[in-house]
Amino acid sequence: MDGKATDKKIIFSGIQPSGALTLGSYLGAIKNWVTLSETYDCRYCIVDMHALTSRQNPAELRRRAIDQLAQYIACGLDPEKSIIFIQSHVPAHAELAWVLNCYTMFGELSRMTQFKDKSAKNTDNINAGLFTYPVLMAADILLYQTDLVPVGEDQKQHVEICRDIAGRFNGIYGDVFRLPEPFIPKVGARIMSLTSPESKMSKSDEDPGGCIYVMQKPDEIMRAFKRAVTDSGGAVRFDPVQKPGVSNLMQIYSAAAGLSFEQIESEFEGRGYGDFKLRLGEAVVELLRPIREEAERLAADRAHLESVYRQGAEKASRAAEKTLRKVYRKIGFIEKKDVPSCPSIRN
Ligand code: TYM
Repeated sequence: MDGKATDKKIIFSGIQPSGALTLGSYLGAIKNWVTLSETYDCRYCIVDMHALTSRQNPAELRRRAIDQLAQYIACGLDPEKSIIFIQSHVPAHAELAWVLNCYTMFGELSRMTQFKDKSAKNTDNINAGLFTYPVLMAADILLYQTDLVPVGEDQKQHVEICRDIAGRFNGIYGDVFRLPEPFIPKVGARIMSLTSPESKMSKSDEDPGGCIYVMQKPDEIMRAFKRAVTDSGGAVRFDPVQKPGVSNLMQIYSAAAGLSFEQIESEFEGRGYGDFKLRLGEAVVELLRPIREEAERLAADRAHLESVYRQGAEKASRAAEKTLRKVYRKIGFIEKKDVPSCPSIRN
């Protein structure tokens, strides 16, 4: 796939390297990415610019970005089929984000649930980037004329605001952007913390026991499930209101093992939570084992990873620049093709 227009639907999605990849991101997003990459024209990004909205240690950010690339490939994404790249390598993302900032209303950004949650949690760092985060995300998506955005439930609102921004821009300048749709899995769209099932499993979780990480060792995974919060009953039954902990574990088991809730209920009929957690732990260990092993192998081959992200950036830039040039023309900027400081890729 070389970034040229095809008649296949275009997919874009990304994950922030702000922490280690979690089982939530795997089941909510990456699993779909892999399936979609078989049929569609996909671009998968490591959104390091978004990660700056919370304070990062520079060396760790660099390491996590490259590890995340290895993990994308280990999960089954093929750089020959999909464009895999790092957001900060394609300057068009920042450039379009600035333009779109001027077509996004303060009021609509103020209503974003993620902004409200994150600013309530990090009162000492409510930076402007956190506020305009959805605009950069809209730029990511719109640059590639994306049709579908495979994400977990928590990102649905961001895809909706992206559509609103694109619609507003198109309303003024004509058909510049394709309007994207979110693509959310039926099971696994919202995996909750194992220790506090009322909150989302998140890489920035303060309680690491609530989270399963894609690269976690089997004994740690087994321990985390053993300690997972359930309830005082004993029935493995799907009831998110009365039994949020057990229902969350059932979601994970269903997504990991490909079983329906009814099949899970009958498998554990008359058996206690202990048995269920053990089987669930084993299923997740087996799901993640090949990914971890392959990611470890790939991480040792730095030269290969570098060539993947270089090629990815080149292909992504070509597609992104096309949209950016159109936007600049529409809004009235003078074309910069004759300006010497512009990289050749722009001409
Ligand atoms: P991020 O990095 O928080 O999460 C990455 C993806 O994983 C999904 N996800 C979950 N799904 C189910 N259960 C969970 N507990 C869970 N935790 C995370 C997220 O929904 C997401 O799909 N803003 C995005 C990154 C982004 C992006 C984009 C996504 C930047 N630009 C353009 C799509 C298109 C984010 O913070 O995801």
